[in-house]
Amino acid sequence: MGSILRTVAAAATLLLAVAGLLGAATATVGDKCSRRSTDDCGAGQWCFDCEPEFAGSHCVRSTATNTFKLLNDSLPFNKYAYLTTHNSFAIVGEPSHTGIPRITFNNQEDTVTNQLNNGVRALMLDTYDFKGDVWLCHSSGGKCNDFTAFEPALDTFMEIEAFLSANPSEIVTLILEDYVNAPNGLTNVFNASGLHKYWFPVSRMPQNGQDWPLVSDMVASGQRLLVFTSMRSKQATEGIAYQWNFMVENNYGDDGMDAGKCSNRAESAPLDDRTKSLVLMNYFPSVPVKLTACLQHSESLTDMVNTCYGAAGNRWANFIAVDYYKRSQGGGVFQDTDLLNGRLLCGCQDVNACLPGSTTVCSA
Ligand SMILES: *[C@@H]1O[C@H](CO)[C@@H](O)[C@H](O)[C@H]1NC(C)=O
Ligand SMILES: *[C@@H]1O[C@H](CO)[C@@H](O)[C@H](O)[C@H]1NC(C)=O
Repeated sequence: MGSILRTVAAAATLLLAVAGLLGAATATVGDKCSRRSTDDCGAGQWCFDCEPEFAGSHCVRSTATNTFKLLNDSLPFNKYAYLTTHNSFAIVGEPSHTGIPRITFNNQEDTVTNQLNNGVRALMLDTYDFKGDVWLCHSSGGKCNDFTAFEPALDTFMEIEAFLSANPSEIVTLILEDYVNAPNGLTNVFNASGLHKYWFPVSRMPQNGQDWPLVSDMVASGQRLLVFTSMRSKQATEGIAYQWNFMVENNYGDDGMDAGKCSNRAESAPLDDRTKSLVLMNYFPSVPVKLTACLQHSESLTDMVNTCYGAAGNRWANFIAVDYYKRSQGGGVFQDTDLLNGRLLCGCQDVNACLPGSTTVCSA
């Protein structure tokens, strides 16, 4: 009798537990949510309103899939795709560090630390000589101004150092639009920030279209920071890789958003040049607009992923660079990164459909 009671009690407890789980089931992408309540949406999502595409707030993705953890990190670095933020430092609400109010564009809206924690793995940064130091800045003509300066590069580099040190299995790539002419200007900041210890040396980068080292080897050796500069001379003088020796890249700004077209920016070799093993795809307008970003991170972005695949000689992009990366109608650039990793790693439409060890069969 006692044992029957215990069985009934156990069954009831189980039922309650199941009911509790169902009741607590978190919202999924596309569900309605309230922007006043931060926890309406499930993990890896946020509550966002993409007017005028849909009325009211919905749960949309805010984090990338960790492909190294989901599948494995045993393939060459160039077999994976990495979510990339354009002008990662040009953040809405960043206080003035010069004492002069800033008058310039913003491209992102959360900190570099948040970007990295959300799965961004490549940062595009504009580096300038300024105030006897290196600053992240918007400008024209290569000269930073008090009213266009964001912050000393050291501050951002220290955020990246903190992330790499807290996440020993992750690799971060920096793509610098570099206007620093001070001798060893950048090297000094890499040293001062503690980032130098993660340096991946140019001598290990493939010169002729070969595969990169395995991610697992890069992790094991602790060489987890890749830096590319737009200044050719620095590869010889400071050992900083000249970006277009290793990477092809499409046009940026409005030219890179022209549906059905994907061609190289002036500094890059043609996209189908296989002597460069990395492919970077830009997809952001010449003037960043917060309100329309979510509309752009939709089918048109996915179409461009496919267009650039063809243009790059049937190679899927490794880097996908956008403004306001969290803005979308649902999956946004996170979905496209999953698409790229699915294509790169197992030939599936989504990395979540890859079956471990299989490159031919996809799960439903
Ligand atoms: C930066 O650090 C590296 C490694 O410790 C060192 O070899 C180099 O001389 C330093 N460079 C500068 C400019 O301080
Ligand atoms: C890692 O994942 C890829 C993609 O699924 C697969 O091709 C490869 O065999 C896997 N490697 C190991 C060691 O599991």
